[in-house]
Amino acid sequence: MMNSNQKKTPLYDALKQFADSSPVSFHVPGHENGRIFPDQAREHFGSLLPLDLTELSGLDDLHAPNGMINKAQELAADFFGANHTHFLVGGSTAGNLAMILSTVSAGDKIIVQRNSHKSIFNGLELTGARPIFLSPVFDDSVNRYTAPDIETMRKALKQHPEAKAVMLTYPDYFGKTFEMREIIKLFHEYDIPVLVDEAHGVHFPSSSAFPDSALALGADAVVQSAHKMAPAMTMGAYLHTRTGRISDSRIHHYLQMLQSSSPSYPIMASLDLARSFLANLTAHNLALILESAHQVSNMLDSSDYWDVLWADDPLKITLQVKHGMTGKKIADLFEAQGIYPELSTHTQVLFIHGLAPFDKFNHLKNAVGHIGTQLKNTPNHDIINTNNLFTERLMELDLDYTTMHKLSVTQVPFQQSAGYIAAEAVTPYPPGIPLILKGERITRHHIRILEAFHQQGVHFQHLDINNEINVFQIRRCSK
Ligand SMILES: Cc1ncc(COP(=O)(O)O)c(C=O)c1O
Repeated sequence: MMNSNQKKTPLYDALKQFADSSPVSFHVPGHENGRIFPDQAREHFGSLLPLDLTELSGLDDLHAPNGMINKAQELAADFFGANHTHFLVGGSTAGNLAMILSTVSAGDKIIVQRNSHKSIFNGLELTGARPIFLSPVFDDSVNRYTAPDIETMRKALKQHPEAKAVMLTYPDYFGKTFEMREIIKLFHEYDIPVLVDEAHGVHFPSSSAFPDSALALGADAVVQSAHKMAPAMTMGAYLHTRTGRISDSRIHHYLQMLQSSSPSYPIMASLDLARSFLANLTAHNLALILESAHQVSNMLDSSDYWDVLWADDPLKITLQVKHGMTGKKIADLFEAQGIYPELSTHTQVLFIHGLAPFDKFNHLKNAVGHIGTQLKNTPNHDIINTNNLFTERLMELDLDYTTMHKLSVTQVPFQQSAGYIAAEAVTPYPPGIPLILKGERITRHHIRILEAFHQQGVHFQHLDINNEINVFQIRRCSK
């Protein structure tokens, strides 16, 4: 039960009050409250720059908060149901790194969902921990990989009961959740802290129409990108802790290492405002938003060229494209009409409905009709099966991070790389999940899958599959 007044926005108010007092600047930042700025951009930046302040008297310090930042974090903790909330100015990326660094050290085992965001792999590498990866299952109802099942988690716990933490992602990018309550209970039976990347679920506490948040379900530490589903500035995120299984002082220690010593006040103020916005959404507001999302969904569903998939999060509208077309082709056609979806995969396009009623129904309707006309007589292509990416339920790297750190890297043609150990992750974009991990042995299966993805127009960060891939310079093993 919330005790605080969630209308309050102490951080934003203090910045505004300071800016309104016409202060004379003899300090950084160099734009001097907006006085000095390139003329051509003044129109857009002008009103925000007076709030782009620094750790002046009365404006607190993110790395040692005891004033307005502390108050704003306490209000957030109360709303989200945390013991403590840390404001992040480096996105969920910084939060994921801090959660991992503060719970595991070199050689410690950590159980990790295999289809995680790259920040989680980077966190593992920074710690030198020993990850036990859980493969996700292919969910036919949404035609993609979602989360690992509870059986895989039981198996991991049986084999690795000494793991120091588990790192899960909930919901997925498309708003799909899983039985988090049971899973948290299971890990807590082993007294293992549950860390959750809830980058896409910051709005969950606002309404029972949304899934339960991981924090409400008992997770120990949760990261949320406020800038994804709430109206916060890009890079604004929260890291919440809830139980004594997590050390807040360790989290704090790592956050001050990972984040800038000059954190952006506009981003922090937007975190304060976004929390207040979420907390004050009324039942009436929410009914209008949900009705609007329903209408957008119905409008999109009026095409013969895709189906709309059901999602646990009603604000995530996913098109499953048909007739052998790729998600990218459909996304490109929408973009040509000035409508920008969040992402496309080889068979899906994700639209995100914001936390206010949509207001361009005619534009959307015309675009759907226009795209239908453009697609008439388009020849069908075969869709390549991609439901066989992960062959093992549990998987460990073939090289530990400490060894990788000491080895030299060389290049081999990707098509002939089977048997080598990858020195870089291969990640199709979007959705940004690594298919080959750094430290994983490349197999013929990987090569076949990536060729199939390539044919469908999927883009890989850092890799041209007709070119070379970075591998570790050690003896190759036949695979
Ligand atoms: C599941 C997930 N976790 C973490 C992140 C990183 O979030 P941020 O952009 O806030 O750093 C993303 C970004 O897309 C994501 O999809």
